[in-house]
Amino acid sequence: MDIEEKKLLSSYAKSELVGGLILGEYARRAKDNFLRDKLIHHSAEEIRHASYITTLLEKNGGSISAHDEKGSHYYAKAGFPKSEIEVLAMTEVFEPVALLHYKVYVDTKGVSDDVKNVFHKIIKEESHAGWITNWLDTQLDKSAVDEARNRYRKVIEEVYLQELERLKKLEGLVREIAINADKYIKRHGLWE
Ligand SMILES: [Fe+2]
Ligand SMILES: [Fe+2]
Repeated sequence: MDIEEKKLLSSYAKSELVGGLILGEYARRAKDNFLRDKLIHHSAEEIRHASYITTLLEKNGGSISAHDEKGSHYYAKAGFPKSEIEVLAMTEVFEPVALLHYKVYVDTKGVSDDVKNVFHKIIKEESHAGWITNWLDTQLDKSAVDEARNRYRKVIEEVYLQELERLKKLEGLVREIAINADKYIKRHGLWE
């Protein structure tokens, strides 16, 4: 595993961890029993994904850098969500792009079996966002839901596409992954 792949894995672990912490914080605040239970499970799953990737990095002599000093990551750009609608719209929007990227990653030639196994496990668990769309669609404040969904889509489009451009300029496996992701998006769009 080269240094760029370690950095990439570290950034995924960081996203999973931060996503899980934000969901956990909203679970702590939730007044509604259904929402609290769902958020606890969802938070636990994201933090478990961070832990799978951390174990993978440890096995390969890497570790995760948990801080985003430059504030350039998705969550830094999106800001801390201010409402339950915001936290769920953000999660709904971020999930499919993470899933798309992980799928492209495991299908890229040259990815080690160790990495593939971890991402196959994560991909299986990443189909956990269906309840969020149902919840958002039943909210009375439709304009707040639309506004949040659109705003987070713009964040993802900006940060993810910029990140792919950066990765395409590197060497080795991460470059191949970025090229494949780029091809996939050109064929299917980011929000297939
Ligand atoms: Fe996850
Ligand atoms: Fe997820």
